[in-house]
Amino acid sequence: MSIHVVDHPLVAHKLTTLRDRRTDSPTFRRLSDELVTLLAYEATRDVRTEQVDIETPFTRTTGVRLSHPRPLVVPILRAGLGMLDGMVRLLPTAEVGFLGMVRNEETLQASTYVSRMPDDLSGRQVYVLDPMLATGGTLVAAIKELIGRGADDVTALCLLAAPEGVEVMERELAGTPVTVVTASVDERLDENGYIVPGLGDAGDRMYGTAG
Ligand code: URA
Repeated sequence: MSIHVVDHPLVAHKLTTLRDRRTDSPTFRRLSDELVTLLAYEATRDVRTEQVDIETPFTRTTGVRLSHPRPLVVPILRAGLGMLDGMVRLLPTAEVGFLGMVRNEETLQASTYVSRMPDDLSGRQVYVLDPMLATGGTLVAAIKELIGRGADDVTALCLLAAPEGVEVMERELAGTPVTVVTASVDERLDENGYIVPGLGDAGDRMYGTAG
């Protein structure tokens, strides 16, 4: 497992506005979308391609196109949905699966409550979308499920990460073909599991507090 923090002034600029408590939901959604597209550019650096012969108006030449099987994009419900459009803008031919994860508040174990994706992910590159890598429990459970189905290359896109969550990922997913791409690793988690300085509850900031 490796982590890549995208160091770019546009990423920092958009993230700063997302962090600002005065940013309203429509602006928050638009900026998350733009930020995801910038993260996606880095996250897809190793997307698999195959050689293709084409003709330009002048000559024959060789280029590349995304290879098969197509990459799979998996937003984790609910807040990961707010990252989907930004991701598929760069990968319009990707397939999309969905994972709903819930945490048992007593055991703190994350489990899957909804899953819509192929059973067999052998040979697939998978891009998981989850805005906040906080304790790491949800993302670890989601990625173990994907690897269990055969995914051989998993990249998680997170707007923000906490050092505690990164440590859990590194421990639980040691030796796996997993990369986390994020705009920032913040200072810490607070006693309620929120990232500090963070941006608050990503789902609520995107969609309000309808539950
Ligand atoms: N989930 C959020 O939405 N925000 C955090 O800070 C941590 C987890």
